[in-house]
Amino acid sequence: MTTLLFDEDRSAEIVAASFAGTPDPRLREVMTSLVTHLHAFVKDVRLTPGEWEAGIRFLTETGQMCDETRQEFILLSDTLGVSMLVESLANSAVSTQGDRLTEATVEGPFHVVASPSRELGADLNVAGEPGEPCVVTGRVVDASGVPVPGAKVDVWQANAAGFYDVQQPDEMGLGDLRGLFTTDADGSYWFRTIVPAHYPIPADGPVGRMLRQTGRHEWRPAHIHVEVSAPGLRRVTTHVFVAGSPYLESDTVFGVKESLIRDFVEVDDEAEAAAYGVANPFRTVEFVVALDAETTP
Ligand code: BEZ
Ligand code: FE
Repeated sequence: MTTLLFDEDRSAEIVAASFAGTPDPRLREVMTSLVTHLHAFVKDVRLTPGEWEAGIRFLTETGQMCDETRQEFILLSDTLGVSMLVESLANSAVSTQGDRLTEATVEGPFHVVASPSRELGADLNVAGEPGEPCVVTGRVVDASGVPVPGAKVDVWQANAAGFYDVQQPDEMGLGDLRGLFTTDADGSYWFRTIVPAHYPIPADGPVGRMLRQTGRHEWRPAHIHVEVSAPGLRRVTTHVFVAGSPYLESDTVFGVKESLIRDFVEVDDEAEAAAYGVANPFRTVEFVVALDAETTP
C-alpha cells in the first residue's frame, strides 16, 4: 500500500497521490496540478512560517470583505490577471473557420443591477449627468458576418466622473447608464450616452492594500461594458475602450485587448447632432460584435 509519509523532496508527489482515488477525472487532474504548482511555489520562494501566516491572514480578510455586492476574491483574481487568462482561454479570438470574433474581457463587479430594457436610440443618461454626449452605433453579426436580428445587447458604464450608478445610487438612481437593447432586422443597435471616464477599482480592502504595497495603481481605462447574446450563438462579455484614455497601457485588471479599442470620434455638426437628438458637439463610436456559433457539449 502507498504510504503518505511526508518527505520534503517528494512533497508534491505524495500529496498528489492522496487524490489518486478522486472519482471525477477532471477534479483529480485539477487537484493534482494545483498541489504540484503550490508546492513548487513554496519551494521556489522558500516561504517562511511568518509569510505563510501573512498569506493566510490576507486570504481570510479577502473572504471577510465579500458580501452580496462586494466580491473581493474576484477582484484579487482580476488584479492577478487570472480572470483575463480564464476568459481568453475560454473565448478564442478566431472561429474554427478562421473568422475573427469579438474578444472577451472581464465582467467586473458592477453588473449587479439588471439593465433596463430600452428602445433603440434611447439615452442611457437618464439622470442627466454632465459629460460629453456620445452616440454608440453597431451591429451584431455571426462569425461569417451575417447580421443577427433580435440579439440582446446589454451595456453598462461609468459616468464622466468615473462612477457607476451603484456607487452613487442617490445621485444617479439605479439603472442610470445601463440599457438592454434588442438588435433590429439588420442586426443593428444604437443608443445615446455620455463618454465614460477612467476610474479606480474598489481599493479600500485587501486587494487595494496589495496594490499599494507592490507599487501598483488601481486604475482602469475608460470603457463601456457590452454583453451580447443570441440564440444559437456564444455569448460574449466584453468592453469597448476609449482610444486615448489614460491607463489603456496599464489597466490594473489587464482587461485591454488591442481589438477592443475604438476612436470616439469628435463630431461638430449641428444637423447631425439634431438628427441623433444630442447636443453639438458630440462623439460617435461604432462597435460591431461578432459572435461564434454555440459549441455543442
Ligand atoms: C469594471 O470594469 O467594472 C471592473 C472590472 C474588474 C474589476 C473592477 C472593475
Ligand atoms: Fe467597468
